[in-house]
Amino acid sequence: MNNVIIVTGGAGGIGSEICRGLAADGLKVVVADYAKEAAEKVAAEIRDAKGDAIAAKVDVGNPQSVAEMMAQAIAKYGRVDYAFCGAGVMTRLPVVEMPEDEWDRVLRINLKGVFLCAQAAARHMIPRKQGRSLSIASGRGVAGQARSAHYAASKAGVIAFTKSLAVELAPHNITVNCVCPGATDTPMSRSGMTPEQFKQREEIPPLLDGLTQKDEIVGLVRYLLSDATRFVTGQTFFLRTPK
Ligand SMILES: NC(=O)c1ccc[n+]([C@@H]2O[C@H](COP(=O)([O-])OP(=O)(O)OC[C@H]3O[C@@H](n4cnc5c(N)ncnc54)[C@H](O)[C@@H]3O)[C@@H](O)[C@H]2O)c1
Repeated sequence: MNNVIIVTGGAGGIGSEICRGLAADGLKVVVADYAKEAAEKVAAEIRDAKGDAIAAKVDVGNPQSVAEMMAQAIAKYGRVDYAFCGAGVMTRLPVVEMPEDEWDRVLRINLKGVFLCAQAAARHMIPRKQGRSLSIASGRGVAGQARSAHYAASKAGVIAFTKSLAVELAPHNITVNCVCPGATDTPMSRSGMTPEQFKQREEIPPLLDGLTQKDEIVGLVRYLLSDATRFVTGQTFFLRTPK
């Protein structure tokens, strides 16, 4: 496979696994993240394993920065076939204690960030009449989450955005879907939890709603980029039942 993918949040726990997995399949990968050094590290690991990757620094909430990321990807590889919008943040705070600027920060990265990256990708893909756009939402976007209402609201927004953009882009042969992992062992899911609280999660077997394994997410992404799903669009895929 010779296709090019941009993965935002590509230096993170889930994003880096997607970058490594797809690079091993032969995709050219743009590891895009605000954490530039961490993104460089993931890209270097991929190149060491004989894959093809570059790192791009991006703030997904900033249109100028997103435009620069797209330009960098196109300058290097000539095109972008797939966009994977995975950058996200979460904090744990009750609504009554939530400062307005924390609400704005989380919505800006998690929801506006998906809008800006998917928009930039769509503008590039429409004239080419092909492309696939994927994002990460969350079961929290349908079930809600106490102490993370801003996060849950942002992910509900990603689900609705996905369905809407899918309808707009279907005439252009571009699919848009989103992936909802269950709780996955990453820096994000460990934040705001004691090691003991996290250990309790780890003790639940995956088949009984325990942690999502990262290779499950990579496998679903592979499926959503495969020929088998060329007509699948506007869908939300849950790896665990949201509750
Ligand atoms: N970990 C889970 O349990 C879980 C469950 C469901 C959904 N998700 C979603 O999966 C995605 C990845 O999460 P993760 O668990 O790997 O978290 P993570 O914290 O390991 O990775 C998130 C990445 O996003 C990057 N990022 C943050 N702000 C950014 C910005 N403004 N611009 C560009 N990059 C930015 C961070 O630098 C980091 O590398 C997120 O969207 C998250 O909401 C995670």
